[in-house]
Amino acid sequence: MAIEDILMFDETIFNDINAFNPDYMPPNYNFRDSQMEGMAMAIRPAIRGGRPTNSVILGSCATGKTTAIKKVFELVEKTTDKVVCVYINCQLHTTRFGIFSQIHKKIFGHQPPETGVPFSRVYEKVMDKLSSDGKSLIVAFDDVNYLFQTPHANKVFYDILRAYEEYEGVRTGIFAILSDLEFRFALDKNVNTVFIPQDIVFPPYNYSEIFSILKDRAKAGFFPGVVSDEIIEEIANQTYEVGDLRVGIDLLRVSGNIAESNASRTIELEHVEEAVAKQGSVNLMETINSLNDLEKTMIKVLIDRDEVVTAGALSKEFKEQAGVSYATFNRTLEKLEFLRLVDTRYTGKGVRGNSREIILRFSPEDIKRCNL
Ligand SMILES: Nc1ncnc2c1ncn2[C@@H]1O[C@H](COP(=O)(O)OP(=O)(O)OP(=O)(O)O)[C@@H](O)[C@H]1O
Ligand SMILES: [Mg+2]
Repeated sequence: MAIEDILMFDETIFNDINAFNPDYMPPNYNFRDSQMEGMAMAIRPAIRGGRPTNSVILGSCATGKTTAIKKVFELVEKTTDKVVCVYINCQLHTTRFGIFSQIHKKIFGHQPPETGVPFSRVYEKVMDKLSSDGKSLIVAFDDVNYLFQTPHANKVFYDILRAYEEYEGVRTGIFAILSDLEFRFALDKNVNTVFIPQDIVFPPYNYSEIFSILKDRAKAGFFPGVVSDEIIEEIANQTYEVGDLRVGIDLLRVSGNIAESNASRTIELEHVEEAVAKQGSVNLMETINSLNDLEKTMIKVLIDRDEVVTAGALSKEFKEQAGVSYATFNRTLEKLEFLRLVDTRYTGKGVRGNSREIILRFSPEDIKRCNL
């Protein structure tokens, strides 16, 4: 073994591997000032004893919505103790009890017991406390589309926004975060007039913004000199093409791993190319393999169609093939959407204006290659 290889054995090019984690909070957070100002303006009245402005935070995937809301909440809590900010991930919590448990946890430091305590008691305790402390409540519902796929959305919004009717002096507001513009009007349909929000829009990043963000991230994650501007340009190009910043952050990490396993002190173009090839196929293969039979059947139906299909048509065909109920169909579809294998898009058509189109996010050829 060459001396250099021996040295390399224990060496790493990663200065901070956590910089590529999904929950990493970038200290440098640019290009979102006006959106964060908008959020602060919405919260400001609550600090002075007024009511916060309800807001919808809109933007496609990886445009920084979750990060921005967390940063703003952190700043609010540093600045004042008059506002309680609660962040709810709607992929995890969609029941009234589940959501108010999170609010309870934020206020009292622990969740209420899961059994034996009725929702109304938890609700009352939360509102009484806010009322006696003279504090406002702001709840951010992240990925709120998951909430209004359940029947609870309207109730939960109502619980929060009409609290002032029963609890004196309680001031409350909601931030609803949506990653798909198509869901915007579905929101209007699902929650009635208690919620009349302002919109705060997160536009997609342009190429130079992507480049700058990736460069910052590479600086945080790798030792100096590991990655050149040319390499970041290449990754930024790939990222811009897919339109998903997460792809770029992941490419940095995977390219780094590949460089390391080749005992290279720098990331080279060939490492990036290998990472690009790997990223697409590995993720898809793993996801497809994790599906159960019903989910695989649905994917097969979608592949055979090989076109945009409405939820109605898909449900008909799926039920014929799998012999299952509408509820099972819906659950299966939700799972595929959760795994980001399909997108669903509200078309505004149909009897109640809520007809959906289902779009496969990968080409049938790529999926077939995963031994479906
Ligand atoms: N302006 C930025 N500066 C640095 N990193 C950013 C910026 N915007 C987004 N990111 C990074 O991109 C990734 C995605 O950001 P985030 O999760 O906030 O997006 P999102 O809009 O909530 O996406 P989704 O709609 O998929 O939930 C995170 O790793 C985040 O750190
Ligand atoms: Mg998010």
